[in-house]
Amino acid sequence: MNSVGRSALGIDVGGSSIKHGLVDDAGGLLTPLEAAPTPRPASPESLVGAIATLPVVTAAPESSPLGVALPSVIRGGIVHTAANLDHTLIGAPVSALLSAATGRQVVCLNDADAAGLAEVHYGAAAGVGGVVMVLTFGTGIGSGLFSEGRLVPNTELGHLQMSGVYADARASARIRTAEGLDWPAWAQRVNDYLALIDSLFWPELIVIGGGVVENYAHFSPHLRARAALRPARFGAAAGVVGAALAALQVAA
Ligand code: BGC
Repeated sequence: MNSVGRSALGIDVGGSSIKHGLVDDAGGLLTPLEAAPTPRPASPESLVGAIATLPVVTAAPESSPLGVALPSVIRGGIVHTAANLDHTLIGAPVSALLSAATGRQVVCLNDADAAGLAEVHYGAAAGVGGVVMVLTFGTGIGSGLFSEGRLVPNTELGHLQMSGVYADARASARIRTAEGLDWPAWAQRVNDYLALIDSLFWPELIVIGGGVVENYAHFSPHLRARAALRPARFGAAAGVVGAALAALQVAA
């Protein structure tokens, strides 16, 4: 990263909370990781208002850019999908709206892509060449695909089909809870998903991330894949850290 001694704001928007913090250019949190409720409905106006008025955003150095991760396909600062958020976000120029509301340089990106950036630059996949896949298991399944450290954005591989349904309706952390699966039973479903990822992308390494990673010791003995497997290092902060790193990359 070409941004020595700088900081950026990282924001990770989820269906229920907006995690946020100020991050340095080595992926370290300069403020505690905090969360505010996601406004309902999460329309463009309410979401932009909620982010622009976060104390960490109003207090950060003027020169700090803002990175925002969303559970959405985002191209050129425009939201194209809105899983768990209000459908009126689709088509919204969120980067431009946030930039106008905060006076900062803004980069918006998919949440799993953001988590992947944190892991590839400073976490579980640091220094790993070839193809790396970062998967986040939470409400859905997010995917961040990297080749030689470069992100291929918006892969949406939680929407691969398994047994005729989206993978995130079979193997997300939400489904584990909803169906009352024990760790070995859930790991079996994850293994079927990892086999699909292995056969289509042949990654060197798959990083397992998302909220479920705090239970890695419970399910990792049951995981099987051709790729090497590692738990994500940044845990719940990955989206915040990665969003900030993306903002620093663009603002560098
Ligand atoms: C969304 C992705 C997102 C993932 C994790 C999926 O439902 O389609 O864009 O990365 O959830 O939040």
